Amino acid sequence: MKNNMKKQDTEKGVSLITLADKASPVSEQYRTIRTNIQYSMIDHDLHTLVITSSGPGEGKSTTSANLAVVFADSGKKVLLVDADLRKPTVAKTFNLSNVNGLSSILGKRQVNIQEIIQRSGVDNLHILPSGPKPPNPSELLGSARMSRLIEELKHSYDLIIFDMPPVVTVTDAQILSSKADGTIVVAREDVSNREALRKAKSLLNYVDANILGVVYNGARNMTEQGYYYG
Ligand SMILES: Nc1ncnc2c1ncn2[C@@H]1O[C@H](COP(=O)(O)OP(=O)(O)OP(=O)(O)O)[C@@H](O)[C@H]1O
Ligand SMILES: [Mg+2]
Repeated sequence: MKNNMKKQDTEKGVSLITLADKASPVSEQYRTIRTNIQYSMIDHDLHTLVITSSGPGEGKSTTSANLAVVFADSGKKVLLVDADLRKPTVAKTFNLSNVNGLSSILGKRQVNIQEIIQRSGVDNLHILPSGPKPPNPSELLGSARMSRLIEELKHSYDLIIFDMPPVVTVTDAQILSSKADGTIVVAREDVSNREALRKAKSLLNYVDANILGVVYNGARNMTEQGYYYG
């Protein structure tokens, strides 16, 4: 499995265990993570959530997609945004078209956002795919237009989850974390290293990100997920 992790097929989606097997221990773990996040939501106005990790392949997309499903299951109106404009997976995960998406909204003058956002097939869950790969992801995510888009989307959704690239390699997640209400760092045994995690934390602190905690994405089998406040 570790070999799979190194050379990832970017055209592949991630597995939606929370849809495939709602009663499984892993799905239960995602619901526990949801509960923990909900506690943070009581104290803070938490409508936008960035999911990132220190390095590649640690389970950001898996975590974002499954959290989006369990939050939607709880009755919240959820939008999952593929803000990993470099290695998008969300459209594939939900079997949707990626012809238009976030990059189209940010890059074009006249777009109808509601035509670009798609139904996921899960009640209460809508998807904004990445759209075509842009040459300048960080600029797009840091633009005033992106900030306006987030404000606009907040009117229609209770929770917006952003699936992002790793924070140590590119600046995208840092940029969006500074605009989002909360950030979750995914770590994975055998993939994440302590030094990179420390670096991730300092990069996020630098932009005053509100780090809610670390999701520990179990390595050997999918029964080891856990959630820690960090
Ligand atoms: N706990 C796990 N057990 C087994 N496989 C997993 C686990 N978590 C993730 N995977 C698999 O590992 C691969 C990478 O996961 P994922 O795409 O969620 O990571 P990512 O952090 O989004 O990666 P990237 O940095 O490329 O965006 C996927 O093929 C996914 O299905
Ligand atoms: Mg990913």
